[in-house]
Amino acid sequence: MPGGTWTLGDLTVSRFGYGAMQLAGPGVMGPPADPDAALAVLREVVALGITHIDTSDAYGPHVTNRLIREALHPYPEGLHLVTKVGATRDPQGGWPIAREPEQLRRAVEENLENLGVEALDLVNLRLGDAMGPAAGSLAEPFETLLALQQEGLIRHLGLSNVTPEQVAEAQSIAPIVCVQNLYNLAYRRDDALIDRLAGQGVAYVPYFPLGGFSPLQSAALSAVAARRDATPMAVALAWLLQRSPNILLIPGTSSVAHLRENVAGAALTLTAEDLADLEAIGR
Ligand SMILES: NC(=O)c1ccc[n+]([C@@H]2O[C@H](COP(=O)([O-])OP(=O)(O)OC[C@H]3O[C@@H](n4cnc5c(N)ncnc54)[C@H](OP(=O)(O)O)[C@@H]3O)[C@@H](O)[C@H]2O)c1
Repeated sequence: MPGGTWTLGDLTVSRFGYGAMQLAGPGVMGPPADPDAALAVLREVVALGITHIDTSDAYGPHVTNRLIREALHPYPEGLHLVTKVGATRDPQGGWPIAREPEQLRRAVEENLENLGVEALDLVNLRLGDAMGPAAGSLAEPFETLLALQQEGLIRHLGLSNVTPEQVAEAQSIAPIVCVQNLYNLAYRRDDALIDRLAGQGVAYVPYFPLGGFSPLQSAALSAVAARRDATPMAVALAWLLQRSPNILLIPGTSSVAHLRENVAGAALTLTAEDLADLEAIGR
């Protein structure tokens, strides 16, 4: 796999992972139009050698986790599923916050049930809201997850949609193995945080690595892609792998062809000239 492996606590995963959000229906609500195609993507993820799937019971809700279970349970040795809690869904497709102790416990129990496991490999506490991270103490919800970890329901803890200050606060309470925030070639607010986490051996998992719902577009990116006879997606993923060894990829796709393209494309080695041209995008 491009990028090799990384160890999250005691779990070794391929740095090239898969983000399962795109498998739910439009607006990340309800079932996909073609459930068999979604199951085929998940089986191809494993067939290609990817051992890290990022998911959430909020996708659908429950749809993505149940597809993962249907496609892959009993899970192959070495496959690790990462989920997140802290938001739920309303009938309009909104993502209301759900961080009260009983809401977090229910979310963990539902993830266990829907994924069909006795303990969750890694649970990210998702803070902030759809607009991004919001300052404020995370102590209460993080301590709730820590208690669930101590009960044996969770192996490792992580954070998502957080500020650097919240990362530091969590680390003063208990170890975390990853931070999952919005970051890509064009959106680089976490540069300093990535470097700090790399020094601590903590993974940084950029969500929207390809731009999410609005694909990355930049003249510099297109120019580098054309020069290297690659797609802009391949360049964007290769850039993330080269940016720092603690970066893990979770690009999303609902297409087997795109999945294969992305795995092959991320193996591109960018030259110093490529990197210099790409550097301008996020500045
Ligand atoms: N923690 C959080 O708050 C949070 C928020 C958002 C997402 N996430 C996680 O991050 C993961 C990645 O985010 P994402 O999937 O929203 O965004 P993304 O990976 O940046 O981009 C996915 C989009 O790119 C398209 N795409 C992928 N490969 C392509 C290719 N080779 N050619 C053309 N189009 C391609 C996909 O369309 P096709 O389906 O047509 O390929 C999809 O529309 C999610 O799956 C989820 O697990 C976390």
